[in-house]
Amino acid sequence: MVKIAPSLMCADALHLQSDLEALDRAGVDFFHIDVMDGHFAPNLAMNLDTVRQIRTVTKTPIDVHLMVDRPASYFLALERLQVEYVSFHIEVSTQPLRLIQDLKARGTKVGIALNPCTPVENLLVVLDEIDFVLVMTVEPGFTGQTFISAMLEKISTLDEQIKRRRRNVAIAVDGNISVETGRACIMRGASILVAGTSSIFTGKPDLYSACLEFKRQICSAC
Ligand code: DX5
Ligand code: ZN
Repeated sequence: MVKIAPSLMCADALHLQSDLEALDRAGVDFFHIDVMDGHFAPNLAMNLDTVRQIRTVTKTPIDVHLMVDRPASYFLALERLQVEYVSFHIEVSTQPLRLIQDLKARGTKVGIALNPCTPVENLLVVLDEIDFVLVMTVEPGFTGQTFISAMLEKISTLDEQIKRRRRNVAIAVDGNISVETGRACIMRGASILVAGTSSIFTGKPDLYSACLEFKRQICSAC
């Protein structure tokens, strides 16, 4: 079953609550919130105060994508905000198992995010310890970028490794996920689509209908 995770950095910041309400009515699976430190990723996106406010207006699970050099410094705040899913980048830690165990001890579902140039091999040691892998299909930091087609082979490689281990690890994809790129990723094993400016937040005023249409087109491929 493919799950849709709207990327809230693409939402209308001046009308965020109405955007959330429209997306909840359309029945999304998660809200994907990008948090950046301006260093690991050259942007800031959303912050923990916004996460706190979003938490007060929706019961939909929140998935925070930490594009930061020091992810552990966010864990306590995210636990207090009852954020259900947290991913951090394998590139920032020489001791990812320690970070994974810390998050799991807090009751959080754990994901490892991979930048486009980071090979699947870099996370195999921890693959059995996590709940999902977030495959970046663009360089981290900005919306509106172009899908890196080489990531399709990476998704296939990851899917093979997961199947070989008989693990229940989901593959999420993040970056220029449209109907076309989303279908291509699903065909290779992805089951969670981070939906941004290429699918739901297209500038049309009716977010509810845009979300339903994206879900319809994606699920017609499943
Ligand atoms: C990159 C961001 C974007 C965002 C989705 O760091 O994570 O990928 O979620 O935006 P679009 O759909 O415009 O790539
Ligand atoms: Zn993201």
